Amino acid sequence: MTEASGEPRLLIRGGHRLEGQVAVSGAKNSALKLMAASLLAPGVSILHNVPDIQDVRTMQEVLEYLGAVVDFADGTLTVDTTAVQSQVAPYELVQRMRASIQIMGPLVARFGRARVPMPGGCNLGPRKIDIHLRGLADMGGVVRLDHGFVEVTAPKLHAIDMFLDYPSVGATENLLMAAVMAEGTTTLENVAREPEIVDLCKFLVSMGADIEGAGSSTIRVNGVDEMHPAEHTVLGDRIEAGTFLVAGAVTGGEVEVTGISPHVLDLFSSKLRSIGVQVHENTRSVKVRGDPAGYTTVDVSTLPYPGFPTDLQAQMMVLLSIAEGVSVVTENVFENRFGFVDELIRLGADIRVDGNHAVVTGGQSLTGAIVRCPDLRAGAALALAGLVAEGCTELREVYHIDRGYEHFEEKLQTLGAEVERTTAEPRHS
Ligand code: UD1
Repeated sequence: MTEASGEPRLLIRGGHRLEGQVAVSGAKNSALKLMAASLLAPGVSILHNVPDIQDVRTMQEVLEYLGAVVDFADGTLTVDTTAVQSQVAPYELVQRMRASIQIMGPLVARFGRARVPMPGGCNLGPRKIDIHLRGLADMGGVVRLDHGFVEVTAPKLHAIDMFLDYPSVGATENLLMAAVMAEGTTTLENVAREPEIVDLCKFLVSMGADIEGAGSSTIRVNGVDEMHPAEHTVLGDRIEAGTFLVAGAVTGGEVEVTGISPHVLDLFSSKLRSIGVQVHENTRSVKVRGDPAGYTTVDVSTLPYPGFPTDLQAQMMVLLSIAEGVSVVTENVFENRFGFVDELIRLGADIRVDGNHAVVTGGQSLTGAIVRCPDLRAGAALALAGLVAEGCTELREVYHIDRGYEHFEEKLQTLGAEVERTTAEPRHS
């Protein structure tokens, strides 16, 4: 049905060696939270280097629904939150994008109330929000679940000392945003250390927050009386960077990604080196060069930052499929994150999944086929497989890729890939 209705698809002809430089866009996983954080203070906040991707557009709709006035052009997003009145997020938008729940902390902090639909399960498995809710309840919030919504009310939040059960990115962010105006000093331990958390803290500090320890596993927040709007430039997207580095490596090319600090990809780069890819780092760029004929496999185990990012697991699996040897990939962050494996197998990969382990037998020659994107990162990974597969790969349900990659095929084309987007009726073969 989807393809018959002229849904966009990517046609990729594999076999081209990618060469050149690509500038990464602003990080999706930071921009979305900064947009939510703008709700903390009335007035006009300005964000630069915001990627024009579907998830950002969805968050824009969420903010507008709440009453904000948003202007987004040429990477600069201006949010005027003066007229925000509503504290209720609509079901359709939250179901479309789970990150919408990040408005909970800021809304409770500023208005004393937030009502947000419980995000359902998604194709990465059930994604709970128990840590978000426990923290908000400990801060004095009254949490109620009814009609599929979670409602938190708290005339005034107070500081807490909390050890998170798991360093959840989303919970860390929601609790940080709730704590900035809570009474007293909040100490959050075992928090997420992702670079996007550091970026959020920088923005919150420029809005008037008093935060220590961003980037470490303990963050202290001294509550302030009020926050004010601020201006901020979103940090570069390390997951997009990693995706293009794999594109260079799988095609035996030479690709440089610019606009990120190499340090945020430390473990990823070290895995690439173990495989046999040459990795060169500069202050604000990373370059790879390699010859797949000499690649050997390594085991990969995903973990919260600074561990190997779950958002680069699928892309890495493509590289491991063509490297010589057998490797074990262990997914520790999400359940059901091997949903793309069956599609990769259709392209010729040899992968056996057992629970959260995937055994990848490398050295395979991939051949083009029709495949569908099961989710955002898996979609990007299948595109990478298409770049190295012999013949034509037709990628369907690419709206997943559009959620998180800005100008995806244009950037690949700049590097020499033969890829085009089409909405023409598919020719069945
Ligand atoms: C964020 C990123 C996503 C990335 C992930 C892990 C955004 C928009 N998304 O997602 O791209 O893959 O971090 O790096 O930034 N969990 C609980 N209880 C909770 C919260 C989480 O059990 O209250 C579990 C989840 O079910 C999951 C794991 O913790 O298994 C990781 O989730 P979390 O770190 O919260 O990821 P997200 O913030 O959803």
